[in-house]
Amino acid sequence: MTHANHHPHHSKPKPREQWGTRMGLIFAMAANAVGLGNFLRFPVQCAANGGGAFMIPYFIAFILLGIPLLWIEWGIGRFGGKYGHGTTPGMFHYLWRHPLAKYIGAIGIAVPFLLVIYYNYIVSWTLAYSVFSFTGKYAGITTFQGMADFLAAYLGKVSNSHFPTIATAFLFFLISHGCMLWVIAMGVNKGIERLVRIAIPMIIVLGIILVIRVLFVGTPDPSMPGNSVANGFGYIWNPDFSTLKDSRVWLAATGQIFFTLSVGFGAIQTYASYLKPKDDVVLSGLATCSINEFCEVILGGSIAIPVTFAFFGLAQTQAVAAGGAFDLGFFALPIIFQKMMFGQIFGAVWFFLLFLAGITSSIAMAQPIMAFFQEEFRMTRRTAATIVGIMTFFFTLPVIFFLKHGFLNELDFWIGTFALVVFAIIEIVLFIWVFGEERAWKEINSGADLRLPRAVIRIMKYVTLTYLSVLLVFWLVQDGASIFLMKNVSAADYPYIWFARFMIVGVAALMVFLVHIAWQRKHHIQRRVPG
Ligand code: ALA
Repeated sequence: MTHANHHPHHSKPKPREQWGTRMGLIFAMAANAVGLGNFLRFPVQCAANGGGAFMIPYFIAFILLGIPLLWIEWGIGRFGGKYGHGTTPGMFHYLWRHPLAKYIGAIGIAVPFLLVIYYNYIVSWTLAYSVFSFTGKYAGITTFQGMADFLAAYLGKVSNSHFPTIATAFLFFLISHGCMLWVIAMGVNKGIERLVRIAIPMIIVLGIILVIRVLFVGTPDPSMPGNSVANGFGYIWNPDFSTLKDSRVWLAATGQIFFTLSVGFGAIQTYASYLKPKDDVVLSGLATCSINEFCEVILGGSIAIPVTFAFFGLAQTQAVAAGGAFDLGFFALPIIFQKMMFGQIFGAVWFFLLFLAGITSSIAMAQPIMAFFQEEFRMTRRTAATIVGIMTFFFTLPVIFFLKHGFLNELDFWIGTFALVVFAIIEIVLFIWVFGEERAWKEINSGADLRLPRAVIRIMKYVTLTYLSVLLVFWLVQDGASIFLMKNVSAADYPYIWFARFMIVGVAALMVFLVHIAWQRKHHIQRRVPG
């Protein structure tokens, strides 16, 4: 007899969706991870933090934090899926049978929701720039200042002849938003899996085309022999051990690993919940992070930095990267492409590559709240997608209209860096300390084609946790305090920054409230535990 028999007014839950094939799963997870982080954020972080100097802390963080957290999140996700839960409130509930667990899990819905509202707006710029490049809208603008003015007007920070109003940006936002919603409304197999089977190969092919083009740049200005593509590669790949003393480089490298792998987001768990109970986690997890690192270090690292180095030299490459998150991708590269034959096409390819990589990550960030509504509130896919669409639309409005007041940056600091680390710490504690080392190890290894040695769980339990905790303290001391106190914010922007913080807290409170309502309805009781 099933529990459902005690609750005749509730229908039996429909079987959960599952990835159709192993390749579909690996591509979906890779598409989740590969995003703007790989092609925009990585080169900027790498160039701003000394190139080869950055790569040592980067790979250390990849091995000690990235891969362990990835396996933990895959493990938690597949575990939750067995109980019919695709989001962390339900997953944590089964890891730690305590009334608080589900509320802590609300962070795993709030974080991807807050991420997607600003991330997908940036994704929409890449689509716009792809069109602009193709149509020649910025053709003839060959200075950094010129491209900076172009972007500022596009974003509505200023008004000029390129864009008198923000209308164009808003239109592209609607298109990108519509694409994201359409895919999640189609479902895991017919929407996401179908898209990623095309998107991942396409990202790789477009990336390789751009890398080959960059390799042929050589030394664009023979009077400046030092400014060559070869030296650009040397800049990234010559290790510089002296920077191991600089805590900022460690923080930047760790932040990049979190962001690029999408760990601490809440998004991997949802995708992993669509695994079959006996699907392998260890090897598939490694396969997806290999695809991610290929796209990041090999493709992402071989496009923007070497070519900017070749055209502008070391000092300016670093200055551009230090100038802000988008200077390299949105200013330097459009100028460089204009100097090449068929530059309009290459520019369009570059931005379309960013769009494909970005939109597939946006979809992964929107899926947790989607799954939450479908499963915990028993909504149909269509209803859930409609509500997610309305919510993400309204919450993106302040990001769009208050951008010039630092609204997006504020969200990015607290959500895109700080919250990820905090959530990762919570996951390690719940999964390995509370649920237990032995069970966590068995959970990750169940169905594994490649078994993890026991030592890996020990590393997660002690090394990864300590590393993250120390980092968090450093982070708060070095950046957190001055950001919290708004040291670099002009007084006129204070209200907007407070509004951003209010929104973060408000969204978190809303998710806790929704979890509360869902559990009050107690529908989770009747979920059958598969044998
Ligand atoms: N992991 C995604 C990226 O790199 C979010 O952009």
